[in-house]
Amino acid sequence: MTAPRPEPARLVVLVSGSGTNLQALIDAAADPAYGAQVVAVGADRHDIEGLRRAERRGIPTFVERVGDHPDRAAWDEALTRAVEAHRPDLVVLAGFMKLAGPAFLARFGGRTVNTHPALSPSFPGMRGPQDALEYGVRITGATLFVVDAGVDTGPIVAQVAVPVEDDDDVEALHERIKTSERAMLVEWVGKMAREDFTIDGRRIRFQPKDQS
Ligand code: GAR
Repeated sequence: MTAPRPEPARLVVLVSGSGTNLQALIDAAADPAYGAQVVAVGADRHDIEGLRRAERRGIPTFVERVGDHPDRAAWDEALTRAVEAHRPDLVVLAGFMKLAGPAFLARFGGRTVNTHPALSPSFPGMRGPQDALEYGVRITGATLFVVDAGVDTGPIVAQVAVPVEDDDDVEALHERIKTSERAMLVEWVGKMAREDFTIDGRRIRFQPKDQS
């Protein structure tokens, strides 16, 4: 008799834009062996392709805009409640252009990851590909990390290197990064879903799930 497959991990994904990283997760999760399912998608703005990708697959969505709340702290609390309603095992920020606030980190710290289009600790912030291009690096990439209170500073889960080509503009470079970034995100979010992990200082350590 084979052991029953464990329940898939519940992912809530937060987006602000086109949502191609979200789409890669949704597609991967269609295979039960992936071990995770996207149970909800949240955003900080309406009318974005990321939300439409979820709607097309019948995945529940929610929007919490900063401007609809009296201040940032109230937004942080509302976002935390909205995510909490979907009982995530892991929260994935996939092109979410806001910093997680203290309420969010108190609730989901240690199980929220973010993907950044640069090789940390280089080029944190909103303009990773542009900053790398302007600096003139020959290799950049993407970083998946556990979110902390800083800007792209949390413990690193995975990185992937991507070459900068001579004729790159920001868009071409970012698109090349995103191709590798999506594969990295799918691989490592799946691993985080299927295995146990502990955060030991700045190192993430994985071990097979205890099935007993
Ligand atoms: C991704 O490259 C992601 O790393 C980046 O936005 C893009 C979203 O693409 N995020 C940041 O720059 C956050 N600082 P997508 O909407 O097509 O997934």
